[in-house]
Parts: sequence; structure tokens; C-alpha cells
Amino acid sequence: MPAKQLLVVAHAPSANTRRLVDAVLRGASHDDIENVKTRWLPPLEAGPDDVRQADGIILGTTENLGYMSGALKDFFDRSYYPVLEEKQGLPCAVYIRAGHDGTGTRRALESILTGLRWKLVQDIVTCRGDWQDQFEADCEALGLYMAAGLDNSIF
Ligand SMILES: Cc1cc2nc3c(=O)[nH]c(=O)nc-3n(C[C@H](O)[C@H](O)[C@H](O)COP(=O)(O)O)c2cc1C
Repeated sequence: MPAKQLLVVAHAPSANTRRLVDAVLRGASHDDIENVKTRWLPPLEAGPDDVRQADGIILGTTENLGYMSGALKDFFDRSYYPVLEEKQGLPCAVYIRAGHDGTGTRRALESILTGLRWKLVQDIVTCRGDWQDQFEADCEALGLYMAAGLDNSIF
């Protein structure tokens, strides 16, 4: 059977946010995952063709000025209508790195995902406040759960 494709579209402008992407990728490439190919693209490099090829998607963003990063917003601006019909039901997970809040980003993403009819298969992870190593553990679990779900065709 061809490998399932897991796409990670995540903005990582700092050392900490890079640690979060690495944690997601580590989780998704756990030894127990047999037949899932995971690929990370920064949002400015990702577009509708990448979404079309994906069997699942993990979105990661910082919160800036009460909203998702401009880079992730640009990804949606370019991808929303081109994939709207074809990718309904796409399994999806989200993590947000927020220095002190995260709610504006969460609301905005929930609204966009509702419009796209992508299926949130995990609670949104918000890594809020001063840096904690637990954030990495949470993002690793997010990657592992998504990959395991695809691997076992449970989404
Ligand atoms: C211009 C700017 C605006 C920001 N606005 C918010 C905000 O509205 N809400 C929030 O929770 N954090 C905000 N932050 C903090 C960022 O979310 C945080 O710096 C980013 O996630 C990177 O995390 P790190 O410092 O752990 O690398 C802002 C940061 C910058 C530079």
C-alpha cells in the first residue's frame, strides 16, 4: 500500500518554534509508525498542490497581534478555494505558540477549518506563556497521534 502523506505546514521563526516543529516531526516518525511519510513546509512554501497530496495535515503557528502568523494566513489565502471541494474531511491538527494568549488565533483557525470542512481530530494545542519543555512533549504527542491515526486508517 502506498505510504500515507502527512503534511506539516508550520511557521517557525524562532529557536523555540523550531523546537516545536522538530517535536511534531519526531512524534510522526516514531518507530511504531509504519507507513506514513511526513513532510514539513513553512507556510510561505506550501500551497494547494501540497494539500491535494496530503492525507492529513498539521498546522502550526505563532500568535502575533492577536491572530495567526501572516505566513499561515497567506497559505490559506492561496489554498482555501483551490482545495475547498476536493479536500473536505481532511484530518487536521493544530498547535499554536502564543507568548501570552492564543485565543484569537484559535478562533480564527476554527472558523477557517469549519469553512474548509477539514476534520479536527485532536484538541488544538496552545503552548501559552513562558517557554516550558512540556510544549515539546505536547507537540510530539500531536505528531504521533496524527501519524498513528493515518497509519491505522482510523480518521
Ligand atoms: C509583533 C509580535 C506580536 C505578538 N503578539 C502576540 C499576541 O497577540 N498574543 C500572544 O499570545 N503572543 C504574541 N506575541 C508573542 C509570540 O507569540 C511569541 O514570541 C512567538 O510565539 C515565539 O515564541 P518564542 O518567544 O517562545 O520563540 C507576539 C510577538 C511579536 C514579536
